[in-house]
Amino acid sequence: MDRIITPARILRGRIRIPGDKSISHRALILGALARGDTRISHPLLGEDVRSTRRCLEQAGIRISEKSGNLIVHGRGMGGWRAPASPLDCGNSGTTMRLLSGILAAMPFRSTLVGDASLSRRPMKRIIDPLGRMGAKITAAAEGTAPLEIDGTRLSPIDYITPVASAQIKSCVLLAGLFADGTTSVTEPSLSRDHTERMLRGFGVDVSREGLRVSVTGPAVLQGCEVDVPGDISSAAFFLIAASLLPDSEIRLENVGLNPSRTGILEVLDEMGADIERTSEREINGEPRADLIVRSARLKGTVIEGPMIPTLIDEIPILAVAAARAEGRTEFRNAGELRVKETDRIAAIASNLESMGVRVDIQEDGFVIEGPQTLHGADIETFQDHRIAMSFAVAGLAAQGGTRIRNAECAEISYRGFYETLGGLIHG
Ligand code: S3P
Repeated sequence: MDRIITPARILRGRIRIPGDKSISHRALILGALARGDTRISHPLLGEDVRSTRRCLEQAGIRISEKSGNLIVHGRGMGGWRAPASPLDCGNSGTTMRLLSGILAAMPFRSTLVGDASLSRRPMKRIIDPLGRMGAKITAAAEGTAPLEIDGTRLSPIDYITPVASAQIKSCVLLAGLFADGTTSVTEPSLSRDHTERMLRGFGVDVSREGLRVSVTGPAVLQGCEVDVPGDISSAAFFLIAASLLPDSEIRLENVGLNPSRTGILEVLDEMGADIERTSEREINGEPRADLIVRSARLKGTVIEGPMIPTLIDEIPILAVAAARAEGRTEFRNAGELRVKETDRIAAIASNLESMGVRVDIQEDGFVIEGPQTLHGADIETFQDHRIAMSFAVAGLAAQGGTRIRNAECAEISYRGFYETLGGLIHG
């Protein structure tokens, strides 16, 4: 279904951002490995998390839903059952990569499949370290899904990953929970650390020395309560929309501010955005606050190096901000964007170009000289939720109408996104 976005002048209001996607996946998965019940408050109920839920249910885990909250009836580390049919991870890389680490250690065979996009994404990055732990995994010739996993006994590993990826790190750490001894992962720079923080809440000892994180197996997880903060990656669309439209002010309630995710706030601060943090607090080891964003004149900046993993999912919407900012914005060392739900460097560039914005594309990034006028255009989402939402925001700040093709893919991470955005428009 297509959506037409018409230009808006002012955004005002107060919204509650849906639950963090990464934390919601992890709460379900760790809850399924735990003894006893895990209560998850304010989880994201988007398509990706539903994929995780369905896969766990196929592995014999009972999950009940009550007024938008979830209860996972954990079966312990040894209580999962062999799924009767392939586990469908849909569009979700997190589902496939995290579950692989667990299924590799289970005493049964399982198959993981995904949609067309997920079936093109690289899985060798998890098959290699898991293989070194003794896992038996067969992938398609290109190192992609479907993955056939023949569960077996795993040995611990001291793994140095070439990519700062929370999915790789979490996959290996989850496998390490089953191996006899200490499993460590060292990454080139810090990726989101929700797995490590949440494991502690489930009673697992996790140690960290700089960029090296370790767990010792065999581990026992105890069910607990997880209160999911709002997803800063979803908040980012509103932070930038309100920054770009004059006289706007929005309050975003209960946004997760884990330091491994707040690169977007640091960069927006550098660009001159006006964002205030209030009611700062920490629950389940995850800091959170309300954010108040007011319009501001943004200026260009350089986004590169260790900053990239801390805002990787926000680069599409930052590209829209860069187009309207005064001066040059450079995105470097962001080659990982090429293997997300779609090749996001190509998708950002082609859609900005359709809107009349010149983009200098490189292999691992791009450069935009701003400010440039955004002209309403036909947007190709490539079924990528973050491309759809980023260009809906671009449409608000554009001259003329914008058509978002297959706009419903936003539901992957944000149900009701367009309605929430529409509800903030005042003139
Ligand atoms: C995620 C990690 C990131 C991110 C993805 C969610 C996670 O992927 O882009 O949206 O929940 O661990 P990588 O680990 O591939 O960087």
